Amino acid sequence: MTIYSRIAGTGSYLPEEILTNEDLAKRVETTDEWITKRVGIRNRHVIGDSGDTTTSMAVEAARRAIEAAGLVPNDIELIVVGTATPDYYFPSTACTVQKELGISSECPAFDLNAACSGFIYSLSVADRFVKTGMKNVLVIGVDSLTQMVDWTDRSTCVLFGDGAGAVVLQASEEPGIMNTILHADGSQNMAICSKSAIWFPDEPIKLTMQGNEVFRSAVTKLGEVVEETLAAEGLDKTAIDWLIPHQANLRIIQAMAKRLNLPMEQVVLTIENHGNTSAASVPLALDHAVRTGQVKRGQTLLLEAFGAGLSWGAALVIY
Ligand code: UT7
Repeated sequence: MTIYSRIAGTGSYLPEEILTNEDLAKRVETTDEWITKRVGIRNRHVIGDSGDTTTSMAVEAARRAIEAAGLVPNDIELIVVGTATPDYYFPSTACTVQKELGISSECPAFDLNAACSGFIYSLSVADRFVKTGMKNVLVIGVDSLTQMVDWTDRSTCVLFGDGAGAVVLQASEEPGIMNTILHADGSQNMAICSKSAIWFPDEPIKLTMQGNEVFRSAVTKLGEVVEETLAAEGLDKTAIDWLIPHQANLRIIQAMAKRLNLPMEQVVLTIENHGNTSAASVPLALDHAVRTGQVKRGQTLLLEAFGAGLSWGAALVIY
């Protein structure tokens, strides 16, 4: 008997404060028109002065996913948190999520850093735990990149937002996650970078990105990995009901839809109002699509993400 990880529930959390393109145009030399046309973002949610943290956002998204799955926190047997912006080097975000949700101390918990690909990587790892015997696993993607953005650099500060998304994976005899494929290319490790404050104490914490190079790599590598994921299951492009992409740039998303011969009506888009929320981007989009009724049980979803590392991956999921 084959055991699958089925997505039993989804949840997400966005900080209340919204930063618009007009707000940004007051800080750096940019325009709503440039950001909308070149990237596809109008608004992004930011932690700002709200008191939210990476951990508090993760906890709230997790709470909602567990509730949506019809479970209680103590049903969770493992917590995996994809994040590049933990509140602490240690303890892990996952251990504090465990504490905040009152989950049994027997439940293992750890963070995984694959930057914007953090959720896809975490999903892939969690899937393996379910296939080898766990019943309910909590997977969270969360980031607060606005805390490390250089607010004087117009080429990056307009791109990012904060948020969290989560899913509960449940062991099932019914098909769920069919396949996940992960890749990385460390030869481009500095293409997107944020240095540790411990080793570079004299430099301000900030995110740098070689936007053009990353754009080109993202289109090429994501195109390859989505085809690889379908081929691994012997499926062709018509099998996909929904593409749920990393929300980094609308033009990258459009290139993926074209490669998959998918009309944009079959692509879940949250970039306009979320911006790039890094590891939270895919689970936020998934939760949005589930709660708005776009994605329905039994449909085939293709999830993909690309980010620092460089790292990228895709997941083929029967929802
Ligand atoms: O999530 C991790 C993965 N990240 C990504 O996938 C992001 C990939 N990269 C991108 O999405 C795009 O490369 C960016 C959105 C970052 C930049 O867009 P672009 O079309 O590649 O712009 P560019 O860097 O080639 O810059 C074109 C022009 C430049 O001006 P000049 O040199 O032609 O005069 C930039 O200085 O646009 C200028 N520019 C801006 N102008 C107005 C750059 N940022 C801005 C801005 N407002 N915010």
